[in-house]
Amino acid sequence: APGAQRFIPPDAETIDDLRTAAGGCRGCELFRDASQTVFGRGDESARVVLVGEQPGDMEDQKGLPFVGPAGRLLRRAVDDAGLDPGQLYLTNAVKHFRFELRGKRRIHQTPDQVHITACRPWLVAEFARLRPEIVVVLGATAAKALLGPSFRVTRQRGELLPWPQSAQHPEDFQRVPVDNSGKRADAPTARLLATIHPSAVLRADDQDKAYEGMVADLAVVTRALP
Ligand code: URA
Ligand code: SF4
Repeated sequence: APGAQRFIPPDAETIDDLRTAAGGCRGCELFRDASQTVFGRGDESARVVLVGEQPGDMEDQKGLPFVGPAGRLLRRAVDDAGLDPGQLYLTNAVKHFRFELRGKRRIHQTPDQVHITACRPWLVAEFARLRPEIVVVLGATAAKALLGPSFRVTRQRGELLPWPQSAQHPEDFQRVPVDNSGKRADAPTARLLATIHPSAVLRADDQDKAYEGMVADLAVVTRALP
């Protein structure tokens, strides 16, 4: 069967174990043209997990999420929102770069639902180990992965929703096989908040306004952390 599930070792305990395994994933065709798997990064005891779309050109080369222009904007927004960057874990809904070659340029292509579905087991596995208190969904692709196709970021952004009850297939996130934090039990009070993607801010006609909107959404997360 296609999809990432068969590449996830049942005995993978830590995020590092998952990252190593993800390096060999062939759960969809995207591994073929991309340089490498770009797995999530950040503190394993992070209270907040931010989920983007997929690695960009720079991330594909460096093997790290959010190291390009969108990442720079995201870090600034996190800072302006008063979130502690040391309490964050950053990841993507899809872990290989999807692009189209035009001459020598690699042009970003939005992942399709088949890529999102194929890659989703990695996201579920990350959440099972991280057990975040708040999940931040950045843009439509992450929303498709976590909230399903009918969720509209533009209408429901900036709102704290119950997690994982609000997720598509919440049972995926309730079956938590591993607790390597030792600190948090199942987090029944965990919540989720959607906002726009940093790349959408960079593309906006009114960048300042779009940026301020993103910061305002992230500030809701800051205030929600006890
Ligand atoms: N955009 C994303 O969604 N993720 C990255 O890692 C970089 C850019
Ligand atoms: Fe595996 Fe995801 Fe890469 Fe597809 S995009 S090969 S499912 S890691």
